[in-house]
Amino acid sequence: MTTSQALLVDCDTGVDDALALLYLALSPDVDLRAVTTVGGNTDARQAAVNTLQVLELVGRTDIPVAPGADRTLRGSLPHYATHVHGDNGIGNVRLPSPAAPPVTVDAVDLIIETARQAEGELSLLATAPLTNLALALRREPRLPEMIRHVTVMGGAVHHPGNITPLAEANIGNDPEAAALVLEAGWDLTIVPLDVTMRENLTTATQRDLLAHGSAASVFAARVLDVYFDFHEEVALPYRGSACHDPLAAAIAVGHVTPLLAPRLHVGVETGDGPARGALVADTRGMYLSYPERADANARVVLETDGRFPERLVERIRTGGSAAA
Ligand code: RIB
Ligand code: CA
Repeated sequence: MTTSQALLVDCDTGVDDALALLYLALSPDVDLRAVTTVGGNTDARQAAVNTLQVLELVGRTDIPVAPGADRTLRGSLPHYATHVHGDNGIGNVRLPSPAAPPVTVDAVDLIIETARQAEGELSLLATAPLTNLALALRREPRLPEMIRHVTVMGGAVHHPGNITPLAEANIGNDPEAAALVLEAGWDLTIVPLDVTMRENLTTATQRDLLAHGSAASVFAARVLDVYFDFHEEVALPYRGSACHDPLAAAIAVGHVTPLLAPRLHVGVETGDGPARGALVADTRGMYLSYPERADANARVVLETDGRFPERLVERIRTGGSAAA
């Protein structure tokens, strides 16, 4: 018998957030308790609408969705990524308006309340700037004791950044929030660009999704057009994309076992120089197979097998009903 895992996702939906949500919502062993959104790829409200639309595609109108912070801890707006994710955040694909609006409870309260109700069983997955999580830690300092595990998609260790030469978007958009989350003392896994840039969606992925013909698979295929345009232009030598948030989702729920994930001390650069927003992972033990140091605060995923995209497609194809 499979036990279902209670999970709350904090995201900035987002093409790859949308695929991660579909993956999780279609996984029978995942109990998706709530989704909270934050300004990142788009503003928090648009991200909440996108989330509701995506969940409705697979009939999951039961999951509460709450928009949260639109500004970083320092009070600035994040750098929206419409050039990556399209004007509406989901690749300019138009979906029907959601049947129900987001819940009226604030995202930070929803995180705390969901954790409280789950009595130690709730895990968190953050695929966006960490502002909501940082605010939740400020509002409820006992949150780390209430949470089973936290997985963060973000940062770059031995890999360049994607918003500056050193900073990745989720960490770099709110470094102060990331610093609070990294220092909170909870059981933490980080899924950086080192692995998400090496799990690649391709035109074959798109073809397989389209061929299936369900509402979810056709959406998943179409949403990749704009995303592939961006990657082809600036990031990859072929038409395709990275697989950031879906990979982090699969690691969070134990569907992907990393090949290499040492426990390291990880901080974040919060100064205003060129390294602002960079993850500072202590990888000095790399030639010694990363012996664990006493100050380690996170498991950092540095290698996966590169085969997750096939499983993502399979989940979306088998989880949703095929075209009639
Ligand atoms: O750097 C990749 C991350 O930034 C992903 O979570 C993407 O959705 C954006 O939020
Ligand atoms: Ca995201």
